Amino acid sequence: MDHATIERHAAPVPRYTSYPTAPHFTRNVDNATYTSWIKALGQGDRLSLYVHIPFCDRLCWFCGCNTKQTLKYAPVKSYMKRVHKEIEMIAAKVKPGALVTAVHLGGGSPTLLEPDDLALLGKNLRAAFEFADDAEISIEIDPSDVTPAKIDGMVAFGMTRASIGVQDFSEKVQEAINRPQSFEITRDVVFALRDAGIKSVNLDVLYGLPFQTTERLMETVDKTLSLRPDRIALFGYAHVPWMKTHQKLIDEAALPDTIERFEHAVMAGDRLAAAGYDRIGFDHFALPSDSMAKAAADGTLRRNFQGYTVDNSDALIGFGGSAIGQTKNGYVQNIVATGQYQAAIDNGELAIAKGFELAEVDRARGWVIEKLMCDFQFDKGELVAKFGDLAGPILDDVGYIAAADVDGFVINDERVFGASEQGKLFVRGIAAQFDTYFGQGSARHSKAV
Ligand SMILES: C[S@@+](CC[C@H](N)C(=O)[O-])C[C@H]1O[C@@H](n2cnc3c(N)ncnc32)[C@H](O)[C@@H]1O
Ligand code: SF4
Repeated sequence: MDHATIERHAAPVPRYTSYPTAPHFTRNVDNATYTSWIKALGQGDRLSLYVHIPFCDRLCWFCGCNTKQTLKYAPVKSYMKRVHKEIEMIAAKVKPGALVTAVHLGGGSPTLLEPDDLALLGKNLRAAFEFADDAEISIEIDPSDVTPAKIDGMVAFGMTRASIGVQDFSEKVQEAINRPQSFEITRDVVFALRDAGIKSVNLDVLYGLPFQTTERLMETVDKTLSLRPDRIALFGYAHVPWMKTHQKLIDEAALPDTIERFEHAVMAGDRLAAAGYDRIGFDHFALPSDSMAKAAADGTLRRNFQGYTVDNSDALIGFGGSAIGQTKNGYVQNIVATGQYQAAIDNGELAIAKGFELAEVDRARGWVIEKLMCDFQFDKGELVAKFGDLAGPILDDVGYIAAADVDGFVINDERVFGASEQGKLFVRGIAAQFDTYFGQGSARHSKAV
């Protein structure tokens, strides 16, 4: 692809882990609203639970997550007390008969929890909610935290899927992002998890990092492939120093430019595909035997706050500071500051800071955007069947987008609208054209490539 075309489409756009995206959430949604949404959950509803641990024992300069470094355990311990209380408070509002089909423990670094605290969290979640026998239970893992006792704690939590942060294996890059982590440490953790019976492992790799060259990235990709993970996330580094001030410690002059980022993403993706991985959406890869590859093949892949997922539950309930939840009524986000989150729970209140109540028109556009992000296309007949008259303005947009498409990035026939092979690399930009909130307010996003 020529450089001018890449530059033209590199303008920042959201990653669409929700629609509308989080910067459009407002204070109109509060504890009372969320309480009514939780009480409205049906008896047979499938629930997904997310618990956020906003602590790490190191601070990687590239990090865009809601977390803070702590070298003491006492603040973590007292935070967890509030999480347990929040679990009880919310579970008391959920009707019996709702079934938990997925749990995700994310952060930050959940692996900073002591083994007993991991086990206790798993036990209390099971005491508070009814679990499906085959519930998928995943944990985000910082390999530098892992000890045999921690693995026992994760197994006691009930983990079935592990997600491990790699980023880049080159020392030069690791130094520039303050994240030392040898290949050997990562390899040993992957092997130890498999020995402990964990069948599914995901590794996170980043492109767009400082001092990353083609050679360094390809070496990281090859080392990652040598561990044969079931899934690989290939994320573009989101440089947002206006939101994450520690990213100012990263030398911007050492960051790959837009063209290099694009070429790195394409090369790394091609190498993963050549090694037998299926491409999933715009930033995931999975072995064909993996459930995510199967979901992508049969059109049931979903997208939620954790990114691509096979989780097709009816509601996502978040616990902990900054955690996001989602029911058919809309989205909520907890207070981000851990002190304020804990104070709210101590007062016997939920900790909702903001949210968004969905209108049917948002659901229609959200469906289109999720389909584009997951399947790269949507069926026009299905849109009309699902949303009736609300499909009209969206199909008008399809006409305008197709007419303005000078680069051949979209396909538009009688039946479907979607991204062409070339356009798939810019699917976020195509999705953004259906987003009526995009460009409103002060939200700033990371690069589209
Ligand atoms: C919560 S961390 C994973 C677990 C653990 N804390 C670790 O770092 O190993 C989630 C993942 O988000 C990704 N991530 C973090 N900051 C990012 C950024 N600024 N841009 C893109 N991806 C980022 C990284 O790949 C990271 O592995
Ligand atoms: S990348 Fe992971 S370990 Fe590093 S600061 Fe972010 S959440 Fe913590």
